[in-house]
Amino acid sequence: MPAPKKGARPAKRPARPGGGRRASRGLRPDPVAAPPLPRSGTWSSRFAEPMSERMQRFNASVLFDRRLADADLAGSLAHARMLHATGVLSAADLAAIERGLATIGGEIARGEFAWKLENEDVHFSVERRLTELAGDAGKRLHTARSRNDQVATDVRLWLRGAIDAIASQLVALRHALLDLALRHAATIMPGFTHLQVAQPVTFGHYLMAFDAMFARDLERFADCRRRVNRLPLGSAALAGTGFPIDRMRVARELGFEALAENSIDAVSDRDFAIEFNAAASLVSIHLSRFAEELVLWSTPRFGFVTLADRFCTGSSIMPQKKNPDVPELVRGKSARVIGNLTALLVLMKAQPLAYNKDNQEDKEPLFDTVDTLADTLAIMTELVATGLTPDAERMREAAREGYATATDLADYLVRKGLPFRDAHDAVARAVREAETRGCGLEELPLDALRAFSPLVGDDVYGVLTLEGSVASRDHPGGTAPRQVRRAIAAARRELARHRGGGAGAR
Ligand code: ARG
Repeated sequence: MPAPKKGARPAKRPARPGGGRRASRGLRPDPVAAPPLPRSGTWSSRFAEPMSERMQRFNASVLFDRRLADADLAGSLAHARMLHATGVLSAADLAAIERGLATIGGEIARGEFAWKLENEDVHFSVERRLTELAGDAGKRLHTARSRNDQVATDVRLWLRGAIDAIASQLVALRHALLDLALRHAATIMPGFTHLQVAQPVTFGHYLMAFDAMFARDLERFADCRRRVNRLPLGSAALAGTGFPIDRMRVARELGFEALAENSIDAVSDRDFAIEFNAAASLVSIHLSRFAEELVLWSTPRFGFVTLADRFCTGSSIMPQKKNPDVPELVRGKSARVIGNLTALLVLMKAQPLAYNKDNQEDKEPLFDTVDTLADTLAIMTELVATGLTPDAERMREAAREGYATATDLADYLVRKGLPFRDAHDAVARAVREAETRGCGLEELPLDALRAFSPLVGDDVYGVLTLEGSVASRDHPGGTAPRQVRRAIAAARRELARHRGGGAGAR
């Protein structure tokens, strides 16, 4: 009996997408001379038929991962130099690779690089072009390396730059907040709990609450950057390599502060991307909370702030409308960033070790998070710096209408010896009286106030004023204008340390 055939072969091979000859086994055309192969990659000889067009489109990441090109070039350069230093690559090969990579860098920067779907991803695209330019030297670049450690390295390098850019944007936003806060360190507004008027605060103090959030965000990025900034290269596919390599040399050249040591972990780990997106989600949430109040406060009902016209749109049907689109979009964009975090978490949830092609799906969420956050921070900074006008009168009036100094009256009675619970009760009755009369607590005559407690003296009006109330909260973190100015000065000193240092963790 004749031996059964291993798998049915089509009598005629399907036509290659893009036309042209396919390299036959053992007789591969010289890539320098030949037109680009339809099936990318050096593994093509393993296969009996070309990739289907649908598969090519499904598989390719080049249309989005070309953003990693600069990182890919830097990583390749460092890898090649290391291979030369350890004796794997000749001086002539290194020189050819260096020239080729520089040429490619120029082509990409000028928008002349031919990105082709058939080259699958940024790594193959660069390698193939390098081989066109540098011949065999280009083909030697991938010695002791895999796309698995290559892509992990590229994403980390790229993300490190993105973190530094975002950190600078956060610093700029904080400066804008601090400037506005200083101008309004003594501007009275109602502070809210349950969205009900609670106690008077200053607008400056309110803004400094957001500054505190963004300060934590900066800390988080600096912390996350330390774990982003570790080098996977040298892990090769998953097990390391038999070639003599010097991982620390590559790490130093690329500015990594440590190795992503275990080779199996290094090629499969995407914690760093998730951590980054988690930190980014918190920034988005802080921006969204701020935006929510701007939407609310810019309605005529509140009238606390006016947003400059250039940040608003009109209605196509209602001529009177001025819509706060910027804060609404900022609020809405947080959904994307949080969604991207969810996508990355789910992406990793059940992946077996080590690298899986699933990981190619890490890039679009990550890029989208960076882009969304960059846009959001830029416009919010502009809005805070140039487009946000508080209406001090309206804010003050709202604080006055809300009996915001009721707690101050209770504290006054406590200082005169009344137990706090009794003071609370006396003031509650005073508020009802003021409500009946349709006036503020400070407008009740002395004998009316004394009816609720004989401890009330004519010094009571000092504590009932809004200014007196905020000035009395004069401790670190309190709303007294003096403390707000101190907090602003402290924040400025802290920010001075960030200058030029990105997330400041290197
Ligand atoms: N484009 C791939 C990615 O983004 C590169 C790594 C591919 N590695 C592999 N063994 N197929 O993850």
